[in-house]
This record gives sequence, structure tokens and C-alpha cells, in this order.
Amino acid sequence: MATTTHTLFPAEDLADNESVAVMVEGNDILVCKANGSYYAVANNCTHQRAKLAGGRIRNCFLSCPLHGVRFDLRTGVPLGELTRVGLKTYPIRLADDGNLQLDID
Ligand code: FES
Repeated sequence: MATTTHTLFPAEDLADNESVAVMVEGNDILVCKANGSYYAVANNCTHQRAKLAGGRIRNCFLSCPLHGVRFDLRTGVPLGELTRVGLKTYPIRLADDGNLQLDID
């Protein structure tokens, strides 16, 4: 399937350790900033499907608000015993015009 690139919003709108949920082509995606870098992951926990929006972000790890599983934003890989299923991750980048761009397969 072809990859489509979507322009999201100005990168400066997102502060470090914050996240914002976006809906792109029917995919509920959480855009996060951690340690100055941008990440995009599925906005549903792989444990019991809780929304990850509002989860605490520290050092490239996003904590699920419901039971606290931590996911590595770089890979989607979870820590701990509650789930071994990784989050889907999406390529995201800062474009020359200052907006964030996301790729969907
Ligand atoms: S639903 Fe996320 S840790 Fe349980």
C-alpha cells in the first residue's frame, strides 16, 4: 500500500513531555514530544485498550494512565508484565515549514 504523508500542526504547539491525539485516516494516533524529539504511536494501550492521551511522558517513555504500563516511544515496546504487545509507531518528522508531518502506510 502507498504511504501517504499528512501535515499535522506546528511543532511549536507541542511542549516537551506533552502529547496530543490526532485522527488521521481513521487511525487514533498520539503525537508526543520527549527530550526534544517527536514521536507518534497508536493511542490505545495494548493491555486493555485505554486511551494513552494524558499519560505521563518521561525520558522517551509514555505511561498508560490506567495501569501504568510504560511504552518506549522510540519503538513502541512495553516494559513490565501486563502486556508484551508493542504499540504501533508511525514515522513523524519536523518539516522545513515548521509543521509536523506524519506518514501512514
Ligand atoms: S490498559 Fe494500559 S496498562 Fe492496562
